[in-house]
Amino acid sequence: MNSPHASRASVRPLAAVAAVIALFTLGNALIAGCGGNKTSQSGDTTATATPAPAPAATADAGDEGAKIYAEKCTVCHGPGGKGDGPGGAALNPKPRDHTDGSYMNTRTDAQLLEVLHNGKGAMPAWKGILSDEQMQAVLKHVRSLAVPPYPGS
Ligand code: HEC
Repeated sequence: MNSPHASRASVRPLAAVAAVIALFTLGNALIAGCGGNKTSQSGDTTATATPAPAPAATADAGDEGAKIYAEKCTVCHGPGGKGDGPGGAALNPKPRDHTDGSYMNTRTDAQLLEVLHNGKGAMPAWKGILSDEQMQAVLKHVRSLAVPPYPGS
């Protein structure tokens, strides 16, 4: 609705840097949460501690999806979305490689949102933690990672 994010190509490198920085800043806390929180209750809204302000990166004010991803997803899915985050190392099946367009692009938005809401295997359910708007934003970010690019919207 309100995110005209002008040129994706110029935003991405900065977003990646921001993601890495954020991962480093938040890594420990997230890993702790990740390990201890296997059965998350779906009513639990305590989640979000405000993240430390990213040092140098004035980047992505507009790119909420990238921010959410860096805060909540890279711990398992990895900073580049390849499924190689530290929190996912011990999981089986592994966190999904979001850059793998040959799989990801076969999934509809509805299917991915379903998993985001309700979880799948070790993938946590985000219902009650992320708002619908945040789900959409982070889905958009996930879509932006696919290689080859997602042909849909
Ligand atoms: C605790 C580790 C963990 C975290 C944190 C996590 N995921 Fe996952 N995710 C997984 C695992 C494991 C799978 C593979 C599940 C399966 O296929 O059984 C997965 C799968 C997925 C998939 C693929 C669903 C499909 O249809 O195959 C998407 C999309 C996804 N995650 C998005 C996210 C997003 C967005 C976040 C952050 C809001 C996130 N994940 C956070 C572990 C995690």
